[in-house]
Amino acid sequence: MNILITGASKGIGFATAKMLAEKGHQVVGLARTKPNNFPGAFHTIDLGCETARVTLFNELATEHKFDGLLNNVGLVNPAPIEDITLEHFDACIDINLRCSLQAAQAVVPHMKDQGQGRIVFTSSMVVAGVPFRTSYAASKSGMVSFTRSWALELATHGITVNSVAPGPVETELFNTNNPQGSESRARYIEGIPMQRVGLPEEIAAANCYFLVGQSGFTTGQTLFVDGGYMTGKSAL
Ligand SMILES: NC(=O)c1ccc[n+]([C@@H]2O[C@H](COP(=O)([O-])OP(=O)(O)OC[C@H]3O[C@@H](n4cnc5c(N)ncnc54)[C@H](OP(=O)(O)O)[C@@H]3O)[C@@H](O)[C@H]2O)c1
Repeated sequence: MNILITGASKGIGFATAKMLAEKGHQVVGLARTKPNNFPGAFHTIDLGCETARVTLFNELATEHKFDGLLNNVGLVNPAPIEDITLEHFDACIDINLRCSLQAAQAVVPHMKDQGQGRIVFTSSMVVAGVPFRTSYAASKSGMVSFTRSWALELATHGITVNSVAPGPVETELFNTNNPQGSESRARYIEGIPMQRVGLPEEIAAANCYFLVGQSGFTTGQTLFVDGGYMTGKSAL
């Protein structure tokens, strides 16, 4: 299978690319910086640039005829309500949602032609509500909504659409927004029944299940890979 991954140079995207390649799949990765050891084709691009990304998505979709898409690039822009600028809000919606829509618009025609395809979003546990994540959580909730609508729209074309919603994961993105010793990091871990953050490989495994695994009858779902966060706290 041939899979396109946005935000593939590190963290969850990179771990997923590596796992897919180890399973014998072809991967095309996108990000601003090319890692030394990417296990597939790689294109450097700022996905915040709308015209550049549409051009590249369309070129790549023609060239590679993708079987799968992982919409993984993400921007957080944390802030209390009073400090959110519309510019920062728009940037979150742009890179997390509009970019995902445009990537899907590039790959869906071929998926429809071949009567099969897999689309996966990297959503987040913040859809449950997390302080200071207004813009990010709105965009990640939008991904869950895209997942459900597209699953219905594409079901008869053999295309599945699912989301993986991680809890806190040990990546640069999480560590930058929640540094060691910060109040937000402590709050995240305190809320996780397993009392730890996840590993990128633990999210990659769920992505692989939806992208290339035996998940063909599963669509419109959001799988929380979050150390039990969405299950809630034990009463004991
Ligand atoms: N880590 C967590 O705790 C967590 C929890 C829930 C959901 N998520 C979601 O998981 C996804 C991946 O995050 P991660 O934790 O793996 O973060 P990460 O390690 O920082 O990786 C983010 C990836 O996105 C790329 N990227 C960021 N901005 C970009 C831009 N403007 N243009 C192109 N590429 C860009 C980065 O590469 P370059 O910097 O080289 O461009 C990198 O490859 C995100 O959607 C995030 O919201 C993460």
